[in-house]
Amino acid sequence: MKRHDTLSRPAVQSLVASRIREVANAGMGRSDVLPFWFGEPDEVTPDFIREAAKAALDTGDTFYTHNLGIPALREALACYVSELHQPVTADHIAVTSSGVSALMLVAQLLLNPGDRVVIVTPLWPNLIEIPKILGAEVVSVPLQLSTQRTDPIWELDLDQLLDALTPNTKALLINSPNNPTGWTMQRAQQQIVLDYCRKHGIWLLADDVYERLVYDVPVGTRTCAPSFLDIADTNERVVSTNSFSKSWLMTGWRLGWMQVPTSLMADLGKLIEYNTSCAPGFVQQAGIVAVERGKDIVAHSIARYTEARNYLYEQLSRPVFREAGIVAPRPAGAMYLFFRIEGETDSLALCKRLVSEAGLGLAPGSAFGPEGEGAIRWCFASTIERLALGVQRLEDFIGKR
Ligand SMILES: Cc1ncc(COP(=O)(O)O)c(C=O)c1O
Repeated sequence: MKRHDTLSRPAVQSLVASRIREVANAGMGRSDVLPFWFGEPDEVTPDFIREAAKAALDTGDTFYTHNLGIPALREALACYVSELHQPVTADHIAVTSSGVSALMLVAQLLLNPGDRVVIVTPLWPNLIEIPKILGAEVVSVPLQLSTQRTDPIWELDLDQLLDALTPNTKALLINSPNNPTGWTMQRAQQQIVLDYCRKHGIWLLADDVYERLVYDVPVGTRTCAPSFLDIADTNERVVSTNSFSKSWLMTGWRLGWMQVPTSLMADLGKLIEYNTSCAPGFVQQAGIVAVERGKDIVAHSIARYTEARNYLYEQLSRPVFREAGIVAPRPAGAMYLFFRIEGETDSLALCKRLVSEAGLGLAPGSAFGPEGEGAIRWCFASTIERLALGVQRLEDFIGKR
């Protein structure tokens, strides 16, 4: 009898397992460990959103919905996006079961095996691995931690990015504000990149989940990162994926959306049918309330995280940490401080030691691609008190090294 192996596809076998998980698994369930490893707001979803889900359940909203989402939510999202960016109609918006599901759907929509996808790294591991599941080739353009100015800052060398966008490139994936560095692409660079992608027919995939979490924005200005949606036509080769997770404190709800050219919508509907069929109806009902009445939540998170970011940045810039080789930039967006440790070559081993010896849970830089090696990510969506405890533990650990 012919022998058959029982393994998954080679593309799946070669996916990298999450190193953030590897560290977290070493410390989860230990009450003495302070967890700053995952990218998750520390507050529960506000009452009025939870109430909306409960009310929907009480009225029996327990059935499948339209593949692309309930019309009222698509309309609400179209209004929300139109206010933030440019006018867009609901026929460009599809509701998805999370931001990460939206990313997988884009990959399924557009990527053939062997297609070249360019990404800017360090980057959230899911964004690096998802195109590979479809057999695409992923090419990285690394950000640089510039220490030329008084403040260290993560920067993109635009020429390097444009050089990587060879004529056979299928898509460019930009996550701005970026997880893990907080790097936030500014309008001038976006315009050049958009023009270049237009000229060469390259799809621009924008992961905008952190667009509302921006700091140092002048009072009275909209709290939203510059977006390709501000400058692109709604029917060109630009897809934006987004999520309820970070803007409205809804990580566990698994609700997201995407904006696409209408030419993709029918096929997207088919893919949603064959992936999840639809997002849960009562979750979508809660989503409507979040979008329509969630302004204060965004403002509240920005105020908290600004304070947390400033605190952590100032602490990690103290001489005791600088002398230990820590270079800490002040992130412009998202909710992470991604600091480098001079001379460090094994951030995974270091993070495991921090868990076991110091009770401090951080994410190793190497989880975000090889370009992240030597750095560590600290999620600052937390209280100052907890951050202070974490800083003290890091200081004690360094003292003993
Ligand atoms: C860059 C980035 N994109 C997308 C997501 C997906 O968010 P969710 O699947 O919770 O909607 C995350 C979550 O951490 C992220 O960091």
